[in-house]
Amino acid sequence: MKTRITEMFGIEHPIIQGGMHYVGFAEMAAAVSNAGGLGIITGLTQGTPEKLANEIARCKDMTDKPFGVNLTFLPTVNSPDYPGLVRAIIEGGVKAVETAGNNPAQVLPYFKDAGVKVIHKCTSVRHSLKAQSIGCDAVSVDGFECGGHPGEDDIPNMILLPRAADELDIPFVASGGMADARSLVASLAMGAEGMNMGTRFIATKEAPVHENVKKAIVAASELDTRLVMRPLRNTERVLTNEAVERLLEKERALGADLKFEDIIEEVAGVYPRIMSEGDMDAGAWSCGMVAGLINDIPTCKELIDGIMAEAEVLIRQRLAGFLDS
Ligand SMILES: Cc1cc2nc3c(=O)[nH]c(=O)nc-3n(C[C@H](O)[C@H](O)[C@H](O)COP(=O)(O)O)c2cc1C
Repeated sequence: MKTRITEMFGIEHPIIQGGMHYVGFAEMAAAVSNAGGLGIITGLTQGTPEKLANEIARCKDMTDKPFGVNLTFLPTVNSPDYPGLVRAIIEGGVKAVETAGNNPAQVLPYFKDAGVKVIHKCTSVRHSLKAQSIGCDAVSVDGFECGGHPGEDDIPNMILLPRAADELDIPFVASGGMADARSLVASLAMGAEGMNMGTRFIATKEAPVHENVKKAIVAASELDTRLVMRPLRNTERVLTNEAVERLLEKERALGADLKFEDIIEEVAGVYPRIMSEGDMDAGAWSCGMVAGLINDIPTCKELIDGIMAEAEVLIRQRLAGFLDS
């Protein structure tokens, strides 16, 4: 399948693995890229330019296919060395960057000069248009369903994707709630030129996370996510657990008086304990509603090959069949 996204990133299939904190290590990115998609290393999980440079080098040892790095601009407790991380990406020869969380205007000129393609992930049409106007090459349009930070507008992809298609000139991928060939074909129908998946890629053999995390995603239904930190306008979709229910109770009790310090125990520094140690009640971790569509733990190649094969059947048989008959 050829789209402006496969052409732009030099990949075989129009499938991207979104940056994921404590999941997007070299092993994850290389497995997705080796399967013909675009794997993404999560820059902030590495934290320092030196560690990121090392992770990029490790990924290059595992794949000769293109892969990218995610740079997230979110409120973090200690501000990372962004100029250093940008340097590590460029000097590492990475040709694709996924930015997210805030306007990437400050880093864009450096990537442009180095020939790095930038896909900005955002949750609204107005932010997508802003990304286009400042020179981003593509957008990842992240609907309300998504795992992680869906923004504050709460527009699901059935509306958001066609709205983006009506307004954007640059290509975009559909993100949030994507799991299978149906997701891909529907996204293409709504104007996207590929799809970005987060949660689905965690439940794969190669994802470098504890087995408990994969099992939790397989066990979860579409009813099992919650929105936390809405009172702080930093909404995050997470899988429910004891810590999340405690956090929500604090939100209810404190109302408009809630401060980040009140919930620090449930959100700060919990990712290594969950992703690496498998302590599933350690705190709030991002997970999409799409967990309800995830029932197995395939390899990345099985997952992507299966999606592409079934997408062809959907397009050539199911959809064309409606017309032929
Ligand atoms: C565990 C987890 C961690 C994530 N961490 C980040 C991150 O650090 N930066 C980012 O831009 N997006 C992050 N995301 C969002 C994903 O890149 C992707 O946009 C999202 O998962 C898409 O929705 P889906 O989970 O329904 O596929 C994360 C998602 C998950 C599930």
